[in-house]
Amino acid sequence: MAELKSILSMNAFTPSEDLPKLQGEIKKETERRLKLFGSAAVLFFKEPLEVVKGEGCYLYDVKGEKYLDCYNNVACIGHGHPRVADYVSAQLRQVNTHTRYLNTVVDDYAEKLLATFPKPLTNVAFTCTGSESNDLALRMSMYFTGGTGFIVTSGAYHGDSYLTTMVSPSTTRRKVPDFVRLVPAPDTYRQKPEEVGPNFAKAVREAIDDMEAHGIKFAAMLVDDIFSSDGVFADPKGFLKEAVDEVHRRGGLYIADEVQPGFGRTGMMWGFMRHDVLPDIVTMGKPMGNGYPMSAAVTRPEIIEALTRSTGYFNTFGGTPGAAAAGTAVLEVLKEDKLIENASDAGNYLRDGLRALMADHPVIGDVRGTGLFTGLEMVKDRGTKEPDPVSATLVLNRLKAHHVLTGAAGPDGNVLKIRPPLRFYHADADFFIDAFKASLAELHL
Ligand SMILES: Cc1ncc(COP(=O)(O)O)c(C=O)c1O
Repeated sequence: MAELKSILSMNAFTPSEDLPKLQGEIKKETERRLKLFGSAAVLFFKEPLEVVKGEGCYLYDVKGEKYLDCYNNVACIGHGHPRVADYVSAQLRQVNTHTRYLNTVVDDYAEKLLATFPKPLTNVAFTCTGSESNDLALRMSMYFTGGTGFIVTSGAYHGDSYLTTMVSPSTTRRKVPDFVRLVPAPDTYRQKPEEVGPNFAKAVREAIDDMEAHGIKFAAMLVDDIFSSDGVFADPKGFLKEAVDEVHRRGGLYIADEVQPGFGRTGMMWGFMRHDVLPDIVTMGKPMGNGYPMSAAVTRPEIIEALTRSTGYFNTFGGTPGAAAAGTAVLEVLKEDKLIENASDAGNYLRDGLRALMADHPVIGDVRGTGLFTGLEMVKDRGTKEPDPVSATLVLNRLKAHHVLTGAAGPDGNVLKIRPPLRFYHADADFFIDAFKASLAELHL
């Protein structure tokens, strides 16, 4: 098996190579960061960017230069959104404490959030990060099923707690413990559409068989239903269904990690809805508070009861009134500004524009995705579909020179991950396409 590219190394600043080429203030600030964070410092781009302001889908650097942000799925309703700032600051002035007191702001928000889910999913546990939500979901599945075995995709990222690191081969570079089985991501570029679902289900079936043959009881399949770190796979709609049915037949739970696709990014409120499947647990985070750190796991009452019978659950900062205020602002603005509908419209427009470039640029192997989550796969040869991570990294850095920020994904880091705030319209898509065209021309691709 080829070495899996770590998700943290994609489009990353490499001190040994890149620091000597920097000059002036940016060099000083970069050195300061490296000194403070040590080897855990991870910066984007060969010349790091110092951002001081954000508005809508734009970021501004320290010199006042404006950049189109096509990377940020946290600021889903737009950077610096006044409704979030106003609601949160009013709430912080009023009271901000934990969930052992009653508070109607929290319960009103919980009701609004739960109303976006199908009926059996009627309980919410609030957390502060996506990692915590997934950690909790994995533990709930263990208590509920009595199993310890998990299935994840081979390029998955699910967090940085101890347990979620164990199910994140994109950071552990495939060295997962024996209670974890990896299945290949449903690569929609290298398989026929009608094969994607059956092949994925077959891999899941074999993984459960293998687990059981080794005396490990199956607990859950955890997948990000847009397969973000695996390289962005969205279609054909419904390809997850057969695998989810298999998981249920074998007594396991299906945990939908909606940290990336959730809150409208795919053109539907939740990514699992595109696959016509019903998760047992849904985890969410990133866009939930538009930058205010908040997250949650939503599930059925009997699953949360399995956890509380064993360990109880309390999270000091999970579900504070401050977090509920931020979350309320996000739900209101998503609806009022029709940002979910916009995700479909602007996303389709962007992908059509990018596909139109394929005729002149053989390096673009595939343009795929849904809503405002697009994967653009760069290849050395369309016939062999051999990944081209070198061109992808060059293009990312040229795009930055043209004032567009985006990132990479996939096991080889050759898939541009285009994932702007949902406040992104046709004019912004045109800006991206022009910058991308110019970047390719500079590299003669
Ligand atoms: C799919 C997925 N799950 C979970 C996480 C972890 O979320 P957090 O960084 O908030 O802990 C991430 C973060 O990138 C993610 O992409």
